Amino acid sequence: MALVSSKQILINAMNGKYGVGAYNVNNMEQLQAIVNAAKKTQSPLILQATMSALKYSEFSYLACLMKNAALKNYDIPIAIHLDHGNSFESIKNAIDIGFTSVMIDGSLIDGKTPSTYEQNVRITSSVVEYAHKRGISVEGEIGVIGGVEDSVKPTSFYFTDPEEAKNFVNDTNVDSLAISIGTSHGAYKFKRNVSLAFDILKEIRSLINIPIVLHGASSIPKSLIYDFVKYGGKIKSGASGVPIGDLQKAISLGVSKINIDSDIRLVVTTAIRKFFIDHPEKFNPRDYFEYSKTVLVDFIVSKMKDFFTIGHAKD
Ligand code: G3H
Ligand code: 13P
Ligand code: ZN
Repeated sequence: MALVSSKQILINAMNGKYGVGAYNVNNMEQLQAIVNAAKKTQSPLILQATMSALKYSEFSYLACLMKNAALKNYDIPIAIHLDHGNSFESIKNAIDIGFTSVMIDGSLIDGKTPSTYEQNVRITSSVVEYAHKRGISVEGEIGVIGGVEDSVKPTSFYFTDPEEAKNFVNDTNVDSLAISIGTSHGAYKFKRNVSLAFDILKEIRSLINIPIVLHGASSIPKSLIYDFVKYGGKIKSGASGVPIGDLQKAISLGVSKINIDSDIRLVVTTAIRKFFIDHPEKFNPRDYFEYSKTVLVDFIVSKMKDFFTIGHAKD
């Protein structure tokens, strides 16, 4: 059966030294494109939705589509994952509507203020206890990742302390751990040309034995920004993401799950903008959504290849 929790997908990735993309979805078309890309590359897949994406779809619409995509495509393992669950209630709801994997983001209180270690352990452990009884895997977060997520921006962010990460895994029994090593959410990740804190990643990898998750991992390719602007989009200067080489290095040093949302937003919006310019006479939504799907399939196929080959190339 294709609908699985993310635990086994990520343990296989950790042992096989490859990365699995976790792609954020908001609607049927994005979902179809991402699943098609996984089928083309025969990649395991984590489909994820944030609380705001679920709210946008009145919860059950998106959840049903995600579940259906997984059940229908039994040739590849697919996990459906709640991204940035922010309360026990949000986790419970996600599990009730069929999610097989959840993230409890206990690193922030109210999505803004960094929580204390004890607060984070308390909420994360209670989620783990509830979820594990139901066969659901849990991602926790330690350290604070910067940028905008779920329409809120943390007041500050800080890198993960490796010793704290080790204690957190022991104290909570989470299945995977999101860490902060310099990535951030959104299209403006770096003010200067800085690389990720690979030394911290190495140390964390040597201290914990569960899959590591990298949030804020979109690459925001320059060519995409160029096309977005070419077809009438406006974006502040300085948009930048994590170069694919850095993501591959992170995978080779032990990252197993790579979260991508902003790239998908840009790819889809740019494709639809292009379609409108190229075909001003068309007004059937199926036409432009179909086109955006084909562009997104190609984009995700190339991500999957980038994330998959690295471990094998190294072996
Ligand atoms: O953290 C992930 C996202 O990129 C924010 O997405 O606007 O669906 O909450 P959202
Ligand atoms: P990006 O904004 O870099 O796509 O990050 C997405 C993410 O971390 C979702 O949880
Ligand atoms: Zn995130």
